[in-house]
Amino acid sequence: MISASITNGINGSPNIPGDKSISHRSIIIPSISNGICEVNNLLKSDDVLHTLEAFKNMGVKIDEINDKVVIYGNGLNSLKKPKNEIYLGNSGTSARLLTGLLSSQKFNSILTGDKSLSKRPMKRISDPLKTMKANIVTTNGNLPLKIFGNNNLSPSNIKIEIPSAQIKSGLLLASLNTKGETIITEQRITRDHTETMLKSFGANIDIKKIGSKSKITISGQKELKSKNINVPNDLSSSAFFIVSALINENSFLKLKNINNNPTRNGLILALKKMGANISIINKRLSNNENICDMEVYSSTLNGCELGSEIADLMIDEYPILAVAASFANSPSIFRGLKELRVKESDRLELILSNLKNCGVKCETENDDLFIYPSKNYEIKTNIIKTEFDHRIAMAFAVMGTKIGPLQISDSDCIKTSFPSFVNELNKVGGKVY
Ligand code: S3P
Repeated sequence: MISASITNGINGSPNIPGDKSISHRSIIIPSISNGICEVNNLLKSDDVLHTLEAFKNMGVKIDEINDKVVIYGNGLNSLKKPKNEIYLGNSGTSARLLTGLLSSQKFNSILTGDKSLSKRPMKRISDPLKTMKANIVTTNGNLPLKIFGNNNLSPSNIKIEIPSAQIKSGLLLASLNTKGETIITEQRITRDHTETMLKSFGANIDIKKIGSKSKITISGQKELKSKNINVPNDLSSSAFFIVSALINENSFLKLKNINNNPTRNGLILALKKMGANISIINKRLSNNENICDMEVYSSTLNGCELGSEIADLMIDEYPILAVAASFANSPSIFRGLKELRVKESDRLELILSNLKNCGVKCETENDDLFIYPSKNYEIKTNIIKTEFDHRIAMAFAVMGTKIGPLQISDSDCIKTSFPSFVNELNKVGGKVY
């Protein structure tokens, strides 16, 4: 349990860790490529360490030298059958991506996870993989998952209805080791880190973005060639700092090397629409990912209405955006948040109940969230329930910097994505103990 109290301002330049999505991919893709890959700035959080451990267990040589992780890849079919079940902790990304990858290997495997991951839907990945004739047995739609590997899957034409980069990436990883051409169409574009990295590793991949859709064509069984990777810093982790500076007076933050991928930066668009004073500077490319530096000032925010089309570009940021909206001058409506119900917790429900406990008037109608901010909040209970969800814990720690003290229960879960969060927040003026 941590307690977050009112601050006098958030100032300085916190160290934001490496991007979680890119870190997972920076282990998975070099592990099945040919050659040596030096990964700089890999996020060493629980989720990513589970992916790292999984590949070590499948015989990949991985060295950790100072801040670098060095991965010695031996090609698409070089993984070895793991001796034990692969335990993935809380990590949905590891689970969905590895399901795809392992369904096209020549050995069988079993995936397991913690209590939260074991409740999350897995048919969303196993069903489309079955179109490719993958043989996966779920436990009532959840983990544990038994994967009967087969490196002779059928190339297919698959339409993904659920907006999910995890599903898309699982399918891409399965098609890498599948002879022939697989076509994956996303009805709504989601984060494209997998496609970007596969392309730079020499995969036979073609990506066409048509309006809000994307069509990816991949020809399998082409060996990949490793490259060194510099993981940019995580925008989703920065979001907690950005909002803490925006809502607290006398604040100014500088954030460096932040991933600003257009399939992922909906939060910045949303906050700017609300009147946030954020400057995006020094825009550049690194490993074909857009990165930038940011300057963030205390701001007077207005409420706004966001449609479901932006939800896919910022799905992890709604807990912290809801905190920002609670301190705006006018109400906000965030539409189309169905996917929030199947994250590390039912995030929509926890945003609602915790905001209400903080005295914020809010409601949901179907999958839309309505927030009616006020000048003063009367806290009903200062215990924040997180259900072990890292993003709920960090979002309400930021809420505590404005109306605290708030007690964040099970705050240990923060190490899922951002082990140094409390230290970094305190370094810039937070009061979290
Ligand atoms: C992720 C995709 C998103 C996101 C998750 C990371 C990824 O999940 O919520 O934190 O790395 O591909 P979905 O693709 O299921 O929406």
